[in-house]
Amino acid sequence: MLLPSLFTDYMTTFRSSKKVNLMANDLFKSEGDINYGIERDNYISKIKDSKTKELLERDSKVFYHQALSTPCMQALSYADQSSIFDIAGNDYLDFHGNNVHLLGYGHPRLIAALQKQMNTLPFSPRRFTNETIVQLAEELVKRSDGDMGRVLFSPSGAIAMGMAIKLARKVTGRYKTISLWDSFHGASMDTISIGGEAIFRNDIGPLMPGAHLAPPPDPQGCLWQCGDACNAHCASYIEYILKKEGDIAAVIAEPMRSVPIIPPAEYWQRIRKACDEHGTLLIFDEIPNGLGRTGSFYTYKQYGIIPDMVVLGKALGGGLIPFAGVLGKSLFNAVLKNTAIGHYTYEKNPLGAAVALELMKILDEENLIALGKEKSKIIEEEVKAWKYTYKIIDSFRASSLLMGIVLDKDHHYWTKLDVAEFLMYECLRNGLNFKVSQGHILTLTPPLTITISEIKRALNILKRAFDALYTRCQR
Ligand SMILES: Cc1ncc(COP(=O)(O)O)c(C=O)c1O
Repeated sequence: MLLPSLFTDYMTTFRSSKKVNLMANDLFKSEGDINYGIERDNYISKIKDSKTKELLERDSKVFYHQALSTPCMQALSYADQSSIFDIAGNDYLDFHGNNVHLLGYGHPRLIAALQKQMNTLPFSPRRFTNETIVQLAEELVKRSDGDMGRVLFSPSGAIAMGMAIKLARKVTGRYKTISLWDSFHGASMDTISIGGEAIFRNDIGPLMPGAHLAPPPDPQGCLWQCGDACNAHCASYIEYILKKEGDIAAVIAEPMRSVPIIPPAEYWQRIRKACDEHGTLLIFDEIPNGLGRTGSFYTYKQYGIIPDMVVLGKALGGGLIPFAGVLGKSLFNAVLKNTAIGHYTYEKNPLGAAVALELMKILDEENLIALGKEKSKIIEEEVKAWKYTYKIIDSFRASSLLMGIVLDKDHHYWTKLDVAEFLMYECLRNGLNFKVSQGHILTLTPPLTITISEIKRALNILKRAFDALYTRCQR
């Protein structure tokens, strides 16, 4: 056994060698920003508040260090509506929120619904049903299309994805899947197998057999270098695997990736058709962006197709309760009689259901999905105008309040700086939180309840960060 001090030394060496690897290797910069790197170190070294330093230190001692959370960058004490507050009293508009904050933090109506449910039926053993969970299932079905008519709930998105995979295996009698490189569907063993991120997959196998990965419909990282003249070769590639293998159970993907990557309608229409031709199911992971963020209650509605299953999570629990679920065709019920694909302790969770039902009421009553599109337009117009001043901005991608400022991928040659990280930490210092995806996309996902004045404040912080970048690079 390693002595504690030796172990500490070992970890320090491990971390710094890892740091070199990670910095040298963009492979690890996929879903989110990593917690190694010069800009992170700069940011942390400038924290003056002693209570923050102490709490970060304690966190660092008792949590396993991994590349996307501990070592953490700040310590929080409070959250309200669109903002989070650190323990030194600084506030940050949260344009990240891990996408649980569709209605902001601590929405009073969600809290009231939760409290009411806590006071009556806080937990429902799964051999019993309850009014709230049935109402939620009915409501999700009502808002869907085609034969989608049954659900199963679980305590996390990854688990819900696992149920979807198991259901696809039972329905088709096959086990192979096709999903996309760079994608993320959760951190469990089955979901890292269908996920395409090195940071989750490397050195941890063997992964689930039969999990094929295809290149994503990523305009900047297109394997076939289609550029603006998209030839949908990436759709052809999936059609090709479907044909060659002939026994794929399911194609699994986010209809719009959180990066964001927003494929054209043709992409999903072709894949839907190919799935039908090969007896393959189409499973959409709408965990981070379903329920209205992209401009429709279910994102699939924007593509003129109906998937066989939709997986929901994150905002479903309103940022109060870990809660997720899979919604699929009624027909699939026939194959489940002598098996259990779910059976998670919180399957009939009335607390999550109470919050989700109230969330849907608020979305409808306040017309928040439609308003989200208008708010997104304000941001789009402003950012597109910046392109003339800040040449580093390549493009702006958005589907309502799933937005990304895409930076020129080759910026390293211009600045010798990790530009995206520089901008992110500059914004954090000035009160705006967002994540960096794929190392060069500033991913912006504010709550649908964000106000116009908060949007203006966020844009101002971002603009100042670009100014700081240009000042720094002219030095
Ligand atoms: C697209 C996608 N799928 C699945 C998950 C997993 O959800 P959870 O963390 O609740 O397991 C996430 C979480 O970030 C996600 O972004």
